[in-house]
Amino acid sequence: MDNTQLHQSIDDKYTHLGENPSTYLKGLLHAKETDYWSYIQLETLLSLQNPKTHFEDEEVFIIYHQLTELILKLVLNELKKLTESTATDEKIFISKLHRINRYTQMLINSFAIMRHGMDYDDYNNFRNALAPASGFQSAQFRYIELYCTCLENLIPHKNRTSAENRIEDLMELQYWKAAGINPKTGEKTLTLRQFEKKYNNSLAQLAKNLRNKTLNDRLECIEVPSQERINLMRTFDYLYNIKWPIVHLETAAYYLDSKGDKKEATGSSDWKKYLHPKNQRRIFFPSIWSKDELKNWGDPCFFEEDNFKGH
Ligand code: HEM
Repeated sequence: MDNTQLHQSIDDKYTHLGENPSTYLKGLLHAKETDYWSYIQLETLLSLQNPKTHFEDEEVFIIYHQLTELILKLVLNELKKLTESTATDEKIFISKLHRINRYTQMLINSFAIMRHGMDYDDYNNFRNALAPASGFQSAQFRYIELYCTCLENLIPHKNRTSAENRIEDLMELQYWKAAGINPKTGEKTLTLRQFEKKYNNSLAQLAKNLRNKTLNDRLECIEVPSQERINLMRTFDYLYNIKWPIVHLETAAYYLDSKGDKKEATGSSDWKKYLHPKNQRRIFFPSIWSKDELKNWGDPCFFEEDNFKGH
């Protein structure tokens, strides 16, 4: 675009808005130039770590959780676009699935920061100061589930009944509620009660908005989805619902159940049972898996990792 065209486009833009283009050009003349630190709000970002103890590695723990939430936000941004009815172009669809897989792979590859990057004793000291907070209370993690698949797919098989269809009832039956029951008392834990109080309304609202519009619904309404689309969705299902849960569970087992010492999790769940993808059976896109794959869901030996590499 040459200078004349540029002026014309600016003129057109503001005239179209009913504004005087010269006012905006004058504003540009006086506007301060941008710099890196204010553009990315660096000082605010670096002020968001407030450890609750004096243990150095608590900052590693906080920052890594913050990084994860930012990556989850990137995943959600793409999922929002993919579930909009306007997203029909196959090329765009494929490129967004690639992005999502790249982000998820990043979460898996970086989890070593948790498993190997904190002092074992420090972690086991500072973690007590966080109770009853738990990653279990990550709302973005649940939003991703809602964008990907219908509420019915997130209910354990034994609790599925075709009669239930009120969003609030389906929400109450979600598989993850199991982690919010104290195994000793059978009561809802404080961790779950806090989470429900803060997020129940927004989760229910999102589930309503996404009724019949989830990523899985979008897949189901295509008569013959391309093999590329299927492969990318299988990769995401595998990475998010088998691979990440396993690296996360191995890390939990290292800190909470090794060195001959069994500890209660900060969220008080029956975590060893709950976190294993075999028991959890969180599957976003069930129709693209074979009977055998569904039967062996969560068994890492059954799934060839090489088949699920993002790029
Ligand atoms: C040393 C590191 C970690 C340990 C020991 C750990 C442990 C646990 C445990 C035991 C649970 C079960 C709920 C409970 O009783 O608290 C849980 C759930 C969860 N944690 Fe972590 N966690 C760690 C790091 C992280 C990180 C970095 C994230 C990232 C946000 C995270 C996200 C989650 C999520 C999303 C759940 C719920 C999973 C689900 O419902 O499938 N955790 N974690």
